[in-house]
This record gives sequence, C-alpha cells and structure tokens, in this order.
Amino acid sequence: MIYNNPKRHVFLIGYMGTGKSTVGKLLALGTGLIFIDTDELISAQYGMSIGDIFDVYGEDDFRNTETDVLGDISSVEDRCIVSCGGGLPIRSKNREILKSSGTVILLEAEPEEILKRIEKDESRPLLKNKKSISEISKMLEARHDAYIDVADLIISTNGKLPTEIAAEISDQFSN
Ligand code: S3P
Repeated sequence: MIYNNPKRHVFLIGYMGTGKSTVGKLLALGTGLIFIDTDELISAQYGMSIGDIFDVYGEDDFRNTETDVLGDISSVEDRCIVSCGGGLPIRSKNREILKSSGTVILLEAEPEEILKRIEKDESRPLLKNKKSISEISKMLEARHDAYIDVADLIISTNGKLPTEIAAEISDQFSN
C-alpha cells in the first residue's frame, strides 16, 4: 500500500527512455501528488540543459549535484512522485537515500525498444554517437545490479503505452 504510507516518496528509476517522466506525471495527475524530475531540478540549478552541464562542468560535477538534489528531495515532507535520472541509482550513496526515503519502482525495457524511443533525441549526452543496441545493452548490463538492488517493484514497459504503465503501477499500489 505504497500511497497509504504518508512518509514515503515514490521514486521511478530505470534506463533512459523507459518512460519515467511521462509515467511519473501521469501518476501525479492520478493521485494529486507533487511531481519532481531530478534532471529538471539540476538543469534549473545550473540554468542550462543537461547536455550543456556535461559539456561545461563534466559528468562528475553533474553527479555530485544529482546526489545533493536527491538529498534535498528526501527531506521534503510532502509525498512526491520523483522521476530519477537514469544514472542516479549507480552511486551507492544515492541508493541508500532512495531506500530510506521512498518506494522505488524500476521501469524496464528491451534495448531494441529503448533505441526506438531515444533514436531522435539529442538531449542525452551519454548517448551521443552511441545510439546502438550494443551500446545500450552494455550500459544496461553495467547498471543492472544497481537497479535491482534498490527496486521494490519492477515493471516491464515493452510495447506498453505510458497510460497502461501508470495503470499497472496504480493497480499494484492498491493490491
Ligand atoms: C542519464 C540519464 C538522463 C540524465 C543524464 C544522465 C544516465 O536522465 O540524468 O543525461 O546516466 O542514464 P533520463 O534517464 O531521464 O534520460
């Protein structure tokens, strides 16, 4: 009964292109909970796009800010639906924060489906010139254990519409 636990956020994690933000917004609409996207907060803090942050300050700087932002979110009293950047669960400190401050839902998709979804998107620096099944599979494999370590619930998104995914999550919550 995830929604009934007043102290806990709902975190959506998973690889790029698994639908975290779209599904998160739908869940927020359906529940009346506040929606937060860690990338949007980071982007607002720097006053630039995620791609520009990587270019100007580098990934390490981005990751440190990501951890700071997650720490801030964890201390927000109102329950929120939080869409997390795809690489956020890699840091063990971030996984500790996720585990202690919310319920974590992992959205999964096959590399083929991910490629289809992100093929025309140039906003993700880690996929610049790396949009192939083999690159995506390699990254998924490297991240798998971290994702699984922190996930309370795993949802496959293959061939599903965001509305169907949100409905599936809501069903799980009410069971
Ligand atoms: C990243 C995913 C992106 C963003 C950044 C790094 C990653 O977020 O945080 O480009 O390491 O997987 P989305 O998963 O929302 O695209």
